[in-house]
Amino acid sequence: MYTEGSAKFVVGNAFYRPTSQIARDLGVIAAAIYRSDTGHLRVLDAMAGCGVRSLRYWQESQADWVWLNEGNPDLSPIVQQNLRDAIASGCCQITHLDANQIFFDCYNRSDYYDLVDVDGFGSPAPYLGTSLWAVKIGGLLYLTSTDGRTATGHSPSSSLSVYGAYARNHPAAHEQGLRLLIGAVQQQAAAKGLGIEPVFSLFLNATYRVMLRLIKNPSITAQNYGFIGYCQHCGSYQVVSWRQLGRVVCAHDKRPLTLSGPMWLGALHSRQQLKLFVSLAQHWKWFKCLELLQLMEAEVDLPPYFYTFGEIGRRGKIDIPKRDRLIQGLQEQGYRASLTHIDAQAIKTNADLPSCIAVARHIMSG
Ligand SMILES: C[S@@+](CC[C@H](N)C(=O)[O-])C[C@H]1O[C@@H](n2cnc3c(N)ncnc32)[C@H](O)[C@@H]1O
Ligand SMILES: [Zn+2]
Repeated sequence: MYTEGSAKFVVGNAFYRPTSQIARDLGVIAAAIYRSDTGHLRVLDAMAGCGVRSLRYWQESQADWVWLNEGNPDLSPIVQQNLRDAIASGCCQITHLDANQIFFDCYNRSDYYDLVDVDGFGSPAPYLGTSLWAVKIGGLLYLTSTDGRTATGHSPSSSLSVYGAYARNHPAAHEQGLRLLIGAVQQQAAAKGLGIEPVFSLFLNATYRVMLRLIKNPSITAQNYGFIGYCQHCGSYQVVSWRQLGRVVCAHDKRPLTLSGPMWLGALHSRQQLKLFVSLAQHWKWFKCLELLQLMEAEVDLPPYFYTFGEIGRRGKIDIPKRDRLIQGLQEQGYRASLTHIDAQAIKTNADLPSCIAVARHIMSG
């Protein structure tokens, strides 16, 4: 018997990673906030495994209705056992179908969900566009990708298939993984005349997760959907818009940039939603979540990339100061700077790399 939050469940032969609990915790918080905002919560857990998410959405987020789907029918006894109380209360149905069948079935019957959770293995490509068919306008889509190789630019040709983007490798490539995922869904939504807004984005244990809200009006613009340029020569980053393509060079040394994209360039999280999440995490005394949420709040509107301490040290040929001291030093110089939840050995800042190196050098020489 495993425990997460207030849920007790068995796992049997199902795929279940206790280390992903915080990703489920954030899903539960987002769903609970949605429930209290709208007064209703119907959840489609499309790839349920042992059913821990369905159970937690029902028990902790107060879902009115949960559709638990798990493609593997051998897991039926486990999910039936874990959801027995929800089933007995008439709040849960269980199926063992391919997730895409379910999404189209929802669309076919105009049965749209407040939260669709798609927690598959590997690439989410087969479900990126299709899962949107089952989401209510204003509702949430929680997507997972474990395909780090593609997201981090180790297979640009596969990123073309998965994201319609040419992903390259660079030090901030894990943030790029989140942004490619958001960008691809945004583009698919735009093709349907709709838009998305990130609620939160999480990179943890080599897994990329994004919670997106589907909105009525297309959100895609040349400003929020574009490219990141990385200078292999000096390590600087810059955002590159479509109109700059073909004439963009590094601002510092005029060398050509390695371009990755297109991808989402806006905020990774909604500041306003994070505030509500923080209050609930405090109320529930979920302190691990709270710490993560506070980090997310700090990084929310900083540029769409980060500088690792390794790069600062290597490029500047210096020893690196303590993380907090470097952030403080940058802030004293009038820059914005924060740690990032994506990489514990990196900072997000609106200072450029030479300025980070100069501040680090100044601290180390003092
Ligand atoms: C990563 S596990 C789910 C873990 C679970 N959500 C959790 O938080 O513990 C992915 C599950 O999706 C199921 N699955 C994979 N592809 C599927 C598909 N196309 N349709 C339905 N289920 C699928 C697998 O059998 C597996 O149990
Ligand atoms: Zn450069």
